Amino acid sequence: MQFAARTEKIEPFYVMEVAKAAQALAAQVADSANPMIFLNIGEPDFTAAPLVQQAAQTAIAQGQTQYTSALGLPALRTAIGQWYADRFGVQVDAGRIVVTAGASAALQLACLALVNAGDEVLMPDPSYPCNRHFVSSADGVARLIATTPDQRYQLTSEQVQAHWGAQTRGVLLASPSNPTGTSIAPDELQRIHAVVQSKGGFTIVDEIYLGLSYEEAFGRSALALGEDIISINSFSKYFSMTGWRLGWMVLPPAMVPVVERLAQNLFICPSTIAQHAALACFAPESLALYEQRRAQFKARRDFFIPALRELGFGVPVMPDGAFYAWADGRALFPKLGVSNSWDFAYALMERAHLAVTPGRDFGASDTGCYIRFSTANSMEQLQEAVQRMRRLFA
Ligand SMILES: Cc1ncc(COP(=O)(O)O)c(C=O)c1O
Repeated sequence: MQFAARTEKIEPFYVMEVAKAAQALAAQVADSANPMIFLNIGEPDFTAAPLVQQAAQTAIAQGQTQYTSALGLPALRTAIGQWYADRFGVQVDAGRIVVTAGASAALQLACLALVNAGDEVLMPDPSYPCNRHFVSSADGVARLIATTPDQRYQLTSEQVQAHWGAQTRGVLLASPSNPTGTSIAPDELQRIHAVVQSKGGFTIVDEIYLGLSYEEAFGRSALALGEDIISINSFSKYFSMTGWRLGWMVLPPAMVPVVERLAQNLFICPSTIAQHAALACFAPESLALYEQRRAQFKARRDFFIPALRELGFGVPVMPDGAFYAWADGRALFPKLGVSNSWDFAYALMERAHLAVTPGRDFGASDTGCYIRFSTANSMEQLQEAVQRMRRLFA
């Protein structure tokens, strides 16, 4: 059988190998004094709020399970619009909001709507590995641009200007970012968007971690910059609903009917049950719970990042959102007799029963020195992880 050439461009998720090895070892050491601690998982350790769970059960019991509009339930689109007003002080017309099967479907729809064969999309290195593949699934080319800590591992407007070529059509950014947890400074984003506008391109900002922002200076939506921003978001992270497969995108008005046509044909609609459930995310009781959890995520960051630095990791930029630490481990490699973050991750797994994510999948520049730690775990587990590393590096 012959497979389409585009499948060749989809690289495997190498970190899944590490995750699988960690799972296998976890089973062996489950009853030992040091069971596996998972710091490699990119999803909250919480589940959907109780009201959301009840709303899903009610939707099923009442038979609210037929297809919805491809754009999503009108009430949910309105509730999301209201959330932008209440939390971020941005007015977003519900007519510009399209509910999708997670941020993943939103990113795919955005790329299919905007990228022609051979078109280039600029993105930072490191960045979320799937972004490259959303672009290549649309037969486009992802151009990764190396970033540095002093630019918060984000693109600068100068880089966008310098790397914009004849085939470039737009930028795909994430703020806060996976794997770094760092955001683009609002004034820099404004400058980037101005460069993109001057080229007639598109600016996609993945704001999936925006709900989990910890600093006043960064926790702002790119949507404040104007109606031509494409913002991607999700119920997966702030609302702790990863497996429910529900997200959304906010589009320039002219793009809505284009994405609607694509979504109708490719997906029919996002999960109806998940949509009815998600309405309950915006009840005051649920929002209060999500805010408590945000405070917990911040407390974990405030403990874990200084602890990593004290252990000898380089974490030059304090993450301002999400639940990741992008840590340069090269000063510690000799202690474990390794020379890259891939082997370092295996050594941590085998010798300290700590599962972490080596940098490899997130880009090409310097990622062999970096480890991504996820702090989506209890404070007790984070403290224990630090103790184990302290003993290991002693
Ligand atoms: C930056 C980023 N964008 C998108 C996604 C996909 O999320 P969803 O579960 O909403 O499809 C993830 C998941 O980890 C992510 O980290």
